[in-house]
Amino acid sequence: MSNRSLAKNHADTTVLVTGGAGFIGSHTCVELLEQGYRVVVADDLSNSNSEALNRIRVITGVNDDQLTFYKANILDAQAMNRVFDENPIDAIIHFAGFKAVGESVVKPLEYYWNNITGTLTLCKVAREHGVKNLIFSSSATVYGDPEFIPITEDCPKHNATNPYGQTKSMIEQVLTDLYVGDTEWNIVLLRYFNPIGAHESGLIGEDPKGIPNNLVPYTARVAVGQLPYVHVYGADYDTPDGTGVRDYIHVMDLARGHVMTLDWMGGACGTGVATTLGTIAGIPDADGSRHGVEIFNLGTGTGSSVLDVIHAFGTACGRELPYRIEPRRAGDIATNYAACDKARDELGWVARYDLKRMCEDSWRWQSKNPDGYRS
Ligand code: UFG
Repeated sequence: MSNRSLAKNHADTTVLVTGGAGFIGSHTCVELLEQGYRVVVADDLSNSNSEALNRIRVITGVNDDQLTFYKANILDAQAMNRVFDENPIDAIIHFAGFKAVGESVVKPLEYYWNNITGTLTLCKVAREHGVKNLIFSSSATVYGDPEFIPITEDCPKHNATNPYGQTKSMIEQVLTDLYVGDTEWNIVLLRYFNPIGAHESGLIGEDPKGIPNNLVPYTARVAVGQLPYVHVYGADYDTPDGTGVRDYIHVMDLARGHVMTLDWMGGACGTGVATTLGTIAGIPDADGSRHGVEIFNLGTGTGSSVLDVIHAFGTACGRELPYRIEPRRAGDIATNYAACDKARDELGWVARYDLKRMCEDSWRWQSKNPDGYRS
């Protein structure tokens, strides 16, 4: 079955967002709806809350026809068939997956099964319905300890140090092979750096279950007084202040990056001659919609240290936040930040928000919702 063209108006385009109730998914839904797309969310709510969908409706003012929700797991082919049968899906933005690095080490089977088999099932059902336009939520983790910095898209991939990272890398390979076998596929792999921040309304944000693993959600819990201090994992790295350096990116910049990628897949912007991994990518069809496999880093290109983040968050919440220097965390690297020229040149996308703004928005969300969506 031939692929659906994306070379048409946003209002005539329906996007399936798997994992649309999660952190990055919910912010991307807001951006899609504000750009006039029709959105269908499939989420099993295993690590998210349906309240996020209510909040998306409040922020965007859309009705049930523009935003449809299915409580469905991507491993469930029958449920996914129903989603495609009942909606004229044109493209998929695929976020659904387990994402806790530490948990993946103790539950490798669950991670490989859920993330990989889930993606295979999703792609199979999509193909049966003639939908071959897909954006995959990948990660800078696929670069492992990067060979050079800033990291460009053609920086060689290295083994991730945990099963979660491996699933991202393996799914990238599956999707690349999908295109090699059937050149109608129009696939983009977006490699995110460190997404933080929240929608400026403070209505949606990151809501990890239990004690957060990542720096900013942890710091936010310290700021609301739920945790006593921030653990700084290592101050002896070869970085300006000795703490780990990362490329933090505002989740709304990331969300906008997804929508601009969809526009690009439909033929907008770009030169149409970018190449990665030896594939001939971004070739427009007769109607202008593209086909290929393309990779874009989404980051700011600026590195911030752990102490930079703790200080910026302290400024946002109006008090200095306590922290303690501790030994390094296993599997961490010293420095990681992106070269974002390709996304700028091809997609016309550049991150707008700085660390100060990211922390202000994270703080607004955390202070208004100290217990997340359960508040
Ligand atoms: N850190 C602390 N204390 C904490 C948590 C983290 O000092 O409580 C430090 C880490 O050592 C690191 C930095 O803060 O230097 C950022 O750590 P995060 O856990 O917030 O993020 P990571 O860079 O480890 O990982 C993130 C995502 C992964 C993704 C990866 C891609 O969590 O999903 O970026 O590079 F794969």
